[in-house]
Amino acid sequence: LNYQVPRTRKEIFETLVKGLQRLEYRGYDSAGIAVDGPSKTTSDRNNNSICLIKKTGKVKALDEELYKKDSLNLDEELCTHFGIAHTRWATHGEPSALNSHPHRSDKDNEFVVIHNGIITNYKELKKYLINKGYEFESETDTEVIPKLIKYVYDNRENDSITFSKLVERVIKQLEGAFALVFKSRHFPGEAVATRRGSPMVIGVRSEHELLTEHIPVQYNSGELYSSFTQHKEEVHEKNSRNRADSSSAINSVGDGRAVEFYFASDASAIIEHTNKVLYMEDDDIAVVTGGKLSIHRMNRQAGEDPVRAIMTLQMELKQIMKGNFDAFMQKEIFEQPESVVNTMRGRICFDTKKVVLGGLKDHLKEIKRCRRLIMIGCGTSFHAAVATRQILEELTELPVMVELASDFLDRITPVFRDDVCFFISQSGETADTLMALRYCKERGALTVGVTNTVGSSICRETDCGVHINAGPEIGVASTKAYTSQFVSLIMFGLMMSEDRLSLQKRREEIINSLKMLPGQYPNKSYKKASKKLLTQLSYHARNVGSSFTILILMQKIKEITYMHSEGILAGELKHGPLALVDKHMPVIMIIMRDACYTKCQNALQQVTARSGRPIIICCQDDTELTKNAYQTIELPQTVDCLQGILSVIPLQLMSFHLAVLRGYDVDFPRNLAKSVTVE
Ligand code: G6P
Repeated sequence: LNYQVPRTRKEIFETLVKGLQRLEYRGYDSAGIAVDGPSKTTSDRNNNSICLIKKTGKVKALDEELYKKDSLNLDEELCTHFGIAHTRWATHGEPSALNSHPHRSDKDNEFVVIHNGIITNYKELKKYLINKGYEFESETDTEVIPKLIKYVYDNRENDSITFSKLVERVIKQLEGAFALVFKSRHFPGEAVATRRGSPMVIGVRSEHELLTEHIPVQYNSGELYSSFTQHKEEVHEKNSRNRADSSSAINSVGDGRAVEFYFASDASAIIEHTNKVLYMEDDDIAVVTGGKLSIHRMNRQAGEDPVRAIMTLQMELKQIMKGNFDAFMQKEIFEQPESVVNTMRGRICFDTKKVVLGGLKDHLKEIKRCRRLIMIGCGTSFHAAVATRQILEELTELPVMVELASDFLDRITPVFRDDVCFFISQSGETADTLMALRYCKERGALTVGVTNTVGSSICRETDCGVHINAGPEIGVASTKAYTSQFVSLIMFGLMMSEDRLSLQKRREEIINSLKMLPGQYPNKSYKKASKKLLTQLSYHARNVGSSFTILILMQKIKEITYMHSEGILAGELKHGPLALVDKHMPVIMIIMRDACYTKCQNALQQVTARSGRPIIICCQDDTELTKNAYQTIELPQTVDCLQGILSVIPLQLMSFHLAVLRGYDVDFPRNLAKSVTVE
């Protein structure tokens, strides 16, 4: 939205498309946009038209489509404008223009909506609305929302009903998870957004400094209104006097000067416009009208924060750009020597061997007294917990359970007040992990977030936590976030073991190795090795490893090369998978000099005895192994529990090259999305 400084329609398109491109890693099977259509001569505000353009495929396809619309004057200048755009990751209904967002209430586009999440009771709502005569055109769950708001509007008791009131009535009927932005012909230039379960950030860009640090929430038990304020003292005073008073509206940021508001699923979409943001809470309704932003809610719940703080993002635009790399994944792989340093920065004193994670220190006593640690995550984040479980058990001397969030919930796993539950998530928004967090909170456990996204839902809802500080990760296949999660969990183990005399030698060894780690990163591209590997790999590679790193390798290969591959722990090979090994079966084996070395050598014998062709990842100068290998990749040695951080690098790079050699788009693997905010 822009006040006072006119924008051409072309500029509006460019802003929306750029925002979508920054979010494209979250979903990329179709995209759509809604902007104000050609101006009408009539003064009847209901005649404002909305133009909807949707297209299957990536945002680029939508972008091209926008300029084909002859009916839209690209140079038309608009003083106040509100446009919405969406890039989709299909859940209900195949990727198609019709199923893509924005969805509309009717052929006249009276209400249009974009949605991130899933509406679980959409079938009942759809049935009800069809019975009332509303016609549906898509197979999506989302379409019930614009139909429902039109139904509420059509049945309104009087004409003075506000847009936000309509939205409030709609969300009362919705079950599931959603972040929604509404646009309507009936409320031109007005934006209404809300969320429950799915993330939503609001960016504010103003040509003058924002003199406020927060915005008060207006409770809807009375009549709602509050606006973005210039003077926080005034707000406090006003709040304590009368929260529902709207008549003496405080100065707003929009007063007489240009101000723009941005709603987005994550901050990367808006960072080039502003670093001033507010995070919406579940069931908040944010309204921008007349250049003022206000946050509305129903009744205030006990313990609820009555203000939404305005934060300054630390993210920089260049962090979310590819730079000279061909793909984000490649850039992020090469960033790892730096990102692990950022994870450790200010937290480890290499001289005194002290490790302090600021976000956990106040809870350390409680954690030490706990019954067990439960590590919960999905995808690659789950693997970071798998990979560090052994060292956490050793350093914390506590039982450590590692759980896939979805399975953990499906099993209705018993959780107790004296459990400490870790939620590991790069994005901090994965719905399965978030639901597991809420489940554990309800049962009284202490909850700890391990995330890469400041201000994310998991960050905000956990009792305490660790930011892994890896910097924004855009590539769908997680790389640097994994190694930073790995290092963060090890730092947690080190912090827990500080007063254990018996563990001091071990701690020292690990801390010294952490210091050396960034310098040990293999400085190779592994392109040649990947080419050789490609000629060997069938669609059915089996991979065996002493360490759990092998499991994450298989995840990367599957994710971006679409080759079926399976990670098998060395001891398990003989219990089934060996049946598949013959001279046609390439087997990648990680055999490092650790406690499982002998066991892995046995596995190697089992493979070579059956004419298998092992490609071995091992420590430098391990001549014993190289003589039995079809191909070897040698790595510097570090302490056993950190070896996985080094051995994952060639594996990440080889997955990357394999995908490129097979002609696939590494950053946008088919059917996947970076952040899955649906259960
Ligand atoms: C999605 C992504 C995975 C990711 C997982 C967990 O499924 O495709 O690459 O590992 O979500 O994401 P999180 O943000 O919770 O770490």
